Parts: sequence; structure tokens; C-alpha cells
Amino acid sequence: MQHRTIIEPFRIKSVEPIRLSTEAERTAALRAAHYNPFLLDSDQVIIDLLTDSGTSAMSVDQWAGVMQGDEAYAGSRSWKRMERAVHELTGMAHVLPTHQGRAAERIIYGHLGGAGRVFISNTHFDTTRANIEFSGATAIDIPIAEGRDPALEHPFKGNMDVVALEALLREHGANVGAVILTVTNNTGGGQPVSLANAQAVAETCRRHGARFLLDCCRIAENAWFVKHREPGMQDLTYREIAQRMFALADGAVMSAKKDAFANMGGFLALRDEALAAACTNLLIITEGFTTYGGLSGRDMEAIATGLVEIFDPHYLEYRIRSTTFLGDRLHAMGVPLMRPIGGHAVYVDAKALYPRVPVAQYPGQALVCELYTLAGIRCVEIGSVMFGTYDAQGALVPAAMELVRLAIPRRVYTQSHIEYVAETFEEVLRRRDRAHGYRIVKEPRFLRHFSAHFEPA
Ligand code: F0G
Repeated sequence: MQHRTIIEPFRIKSVEPIRLSTEAERTAALRAAHYNPFLLDSDQVIIDLLTDSGTSAMSVDQWAGVMQGDEAYAGSRSWKRMERAVHELTGMAHVLPTHQGRAAERIIYGHLGGAGRVFISNTHFDTTRANIEFSGATAIDIPIAEGRDPALEHPFKGNMDVVALEALLREHGANVGAVILTVTNNTGGGQPVSLANAQAVAETCRRHGARFLLDCCRIAENAWFVKHREPGMQDLTYREIAQRMFALADGAVMSAKKDAFANMGGFLALRDEALAAACTNLLIITEGFTTYGGLSGRDMEAIATGLVEIFDPHYLEYRIRSTTFLGDRLHAMGVPLMRPIGGHAVYVDAKALYPRVPVAQYPGQALVCELYTLAGIRCVEIGSVMFGTYDAQGALVPAAMELVRLAIPRRVYTQSHIEYVAETFEEVLRRRDRAHGYRIVKEPRFLRHFSAHFEPA
């Protein structure tokens, strides 16, 4: 029998209670958190869709590995396992362990960056952009035009605009620090990148002598889309698809908190020995010795195991189908969304949902606050709060889109949790005419969304 129901391909062995709250409690909690859910305590949250990063449930094999972690300062057995796992997956000779993705970013972009340098990506993730800009360099996003239109259906909206890449490489020549393909494209809606696009990017880089890096933290999820949407890929395994993508790149930066099911960790993998040596100096100064970087032995065990588990076809099928399940439910209800549904999250188009809330009053933040108050659902604005800047007159220069991300932690929530989220949106739609915006009353210079304070406008 062919079942319609996609079941979670795991049983639950250990549970974590969720504290339920009332709407009045949440209204008070949100006010105390300055209308910024990053400032809420996690036990004030019922369904935490803030991120899929570091929030995965680990498997029995990963937990068993935690007990086996070799915490030796040098030459740890757990490091050997992690190094082998990364090497076998990426084919890259030099692997540098870091405490999370942005630590690898700081090392590589700190080294390649600096004033006058230019980085080009399908879309830089916020920490990627911040590390590049902090070095004094410039970060330029060139997603394909289809990727900027939330409602448009396209199989690979994460692709990079190769014509724009060619022009930028011509213009900036030797000043280009690296070309970075983020798979899947998180900021652009969790949208996949095709292998053909990665190939075209790699060839363009090679012709111009530019370095090509992958931000590969969701490369297994990306491989699912390649196998099911790209002609000629059906017979490859998910792992083979990922390996073909790695084979095109000069290096890779990974946050192991995503597609390695680890609660902490990351790495930088490089082919070039001289570049690896320079980065290793920075690793030792800021993260740790080469055989642990920023990680304990038990983290390295979890990563080594997670990097294999993530390519299990039953897991990936369940993972992508369950994200799509939520997205399709909301779509059917008439919630404007980033289409088609991406791998790790559903992105709501808050500008289309709340057309009467001016962009300068952050419609995404309005939805984030509404979802928390109504249901204790925590999620994140990916729009002008996260990426907006100010012009010389102090007016907001908005982001390309006003999205709200509902990120699904891996192997954590069941279908009834997801149904609860979908049900909440019925009420969001009923109340949409009463929505109001927010203004920022306090903000730091970098990555302001984490700590900004808001007030209702
Ligand atoms: N690159 C991408 C594409 C990411 O999504 C992230 C993190 C990073 C790099 C940085 O990795 O957090 O380990 O330092 N994304 C998380 C998120 C935070 O919620 O999407 P990190």
C-alpha cells in the first residue's frame, strides 16, 4: 500500500516538557522583552520556530558518541572521526574545526577581506555579511531575479545570477575576495540552488581566477531538491549530489548546527594549502588548537555521526515533506508566502499580509509579535529589521523583502505542533485589518535584530 501520510521516521525516547501559557501572560512577556522575541526566555515560548540552528534532536548514536568523546587537547580520536567525516563528504584536504559557522566565517573572511575587497553571493546570510563588512569589505547579493519575487514559482529560486556575476568579476577583478554560494539560500527563503547553477558559477569563477566557496550548512536539504527537481539527477544519492557540488568549490564554510544535527559546531574546509595555513594561524589564536578548534570531543562525535545521518533518504523525505506540509496548509488558507516552500522553513510575505503597515514600521515584526501573543509561537523577521539600513537623512533603506521565517527544528516537533501553528494563522488572517507596526527605539550597530528594542507604532 502506498501511504499518503508521511510519518516521522523515528520514535521519541526522551521528552522535554513545554510550558503552556495564557495570552495575557504572553502579552506581558512580550512587552517586557521590548517586542523582540530574541529577548524572551525560552520557557515563555510554546513552539520555538526562531531557528533550525542548534535546535535539532540528536539521535541515539549521537548521544552515544557524546559519551565516547575524547577530550584530549591534541590528537583527539573524536577529531579524527570528524575530520574523516568532513573529508569524505567534501573531498577537501584541509579541515578546520570551529565552534560554529560564524567563527569559520570570521577566520576566512577576516583573512580574505579588508577595505577594498568585494564578496559576491546569491545572498549573504546575516552573519556572513556582518563578518565581511566588519573586515571593511563589501558584500554584494546577486540572486536570480525570480528569487526576489516571493509569489513566483520556480524550482531553484536560490540560484545566483551568473550574468551579473560575470559583470561583477570583470568590474572588480583581483579585488574579489570570494564568490559564495549559500545552499540552500537561507535569506532568500530557504530556496535551493541547482547543480547546473553551481557548475556555471564555478566555471565563471575559474575563468576569472576568483575563489569559489560554498556555505554548505543546508547542503543535504539542497540535495533533496536537486534530486527531485533537476533533470538527470534522480538516480544519484543525496550524498552524491552534495559531493558533486563540493567538487566544484575551492572551499566550504559550514555551521554544523543545521545539516549535521549538532547543537554546536562548524568547520572550514579548504583545498589550498597556503590559504589553509594562514587560516590555521587564526584558528589557533581565536578558536583553539587544530585538533579541536572551538569544539569539545563530544561535539565532534555528534558532528561526525550527524553528517552521515543527514543523508538518510527517509529522513530527508520526511524533513522536506513536513516543511512543505505547513507551507501548503498556509498557502491554501490564503497566507501570502515565499513560493515554493523551501527546505528548513516557511517564509511568510509580511508586506503582502499586512499591506496597510508601512515598511518603515516593519510589517514582519508586526507578524512576529502577533504569532507570539496569539499562540506562543516564536519566529524571526527577515526583512528591514534584519537588513534595513539608513540613508544620510536617517530614513530607512528597506530590505528587498519583508519576510517572517518559521524555521522548523530537525526531528523536534510532531504533526500536531505544526497543526497548532497552522490554526493560529486562521486567527492572524481574521485580525489582519487590525495589525499595526512597530518602531525601533534602541539598536546596536551590527546585527541589530538580535537586541533591538521596539515599541508599537
Ligand atoms: N550561513 C548560513 C546560511 C546560516 O544560516 C547561518 C546561521 C550561518 C552561516 C552562521 O552559522 O549560527 O553556526 O554561526 N543561521 C542561523 C539561522 C543562525 O537561524 O538561520 P552559526
